[in-house]
Amino acid sequence: MSIIVTPSGQACGATVTGIDLSHPLNGEQVAEIRAAWLDHHVLAFPGQGISDDDLERFTLSFGGFGHDPFFDPIEGRKHIAAIRRDADETSPLFAENWHSDWSFQEHPPAGTCLRGITIPPMGGDTLFSNQHAALDVMPSDMREKLEGKVAIHSAQMAYAPDGAYGEKDEGRSMAIRPDESARETQLHPLIRAHAETGRLGLFSCMGYIIGFEGMSQLEALPLLQELYAWQSREEFIYRHKWEADMLVMWDNRSVLHCATGGYEGHDRLLHRTTIAASG
Ligand code: SIN
Repeated sequence: MSIIVTPSGQACGATVTGIDLSHPLNGEQVAEIRAAWLDHHVLAFPGQGISDDDLERFTLSFGGFGHDPFFDPIEGRKHIAAIRRDADETSPLFAENWHSDWSFQEHPPAGTCLRGITIPPMGGDTLFSNQHAALDVMPSDMREKLEGKVAIHSAQMAYAPDGAYGEKDEGRSMAIRPDESARETQLHPLIRAHAETGRLGLFSCMGYIIGFEGMSQLEALPLLQELYAWQSREEFIYRHKWEADMLVMWDNRSVLHCATGGYEGHDRLLHRTTIAASG
């Protein structure tokens, strides 16, 4: 039986039903899900009472595990991180700024999988922004300024000891481990072809992008801010509403994402894996 793919009606995203992820997927099912993923960039699988073993097996159906620095994995697993916030937590929200996961790596993960476990009764939506659409309709004067630019990526603002999740970040329930290695830099073209579809898009944004090759910080900063404002416009966004027992997979090569709050006084827990880049 084929999967049923229902588009969100927003800038990207679709819901997938007609499949049970608690069983191994056959080649045809993997090919169908991959095709839907490449079309819609974010797939939500509701009503999946799956375990961490199932999450790992699902992830491995689409590539190897990505390398996840700066987090301790959950106990007993090497490749699953907990995205967690306790009801009484007051530290700034994790991942509230737009980003593409680990874009500062030489080979950033193609995708991310997130399994909803404890979902608050309100708030906690994840936003996704379609970066093919953002490039497609970018005004030509802005595109001219960005065409051919090579972006400098780094995790320093988030994960260096003096970064947002560094030594001054207290009372966080997530197992974040800041490190000096966050200061390393990596270059990626800002506008690049998707490795599987060839479709052009904008890759990552200010935050993990800290500058442009051959451009002073004085020039780069306003350009990055202008770009960030464009990338996060409402028209490119899919707002994902979580349910417990829902698995979501997204394509880091096509979308930015960010977390939202609004669930003060409630726990939120999701288990996360990353899918390594192919090739
Ligand atoms: C993430 O960026 O991995 C977390 C997103 C969320 O908590 O909604």
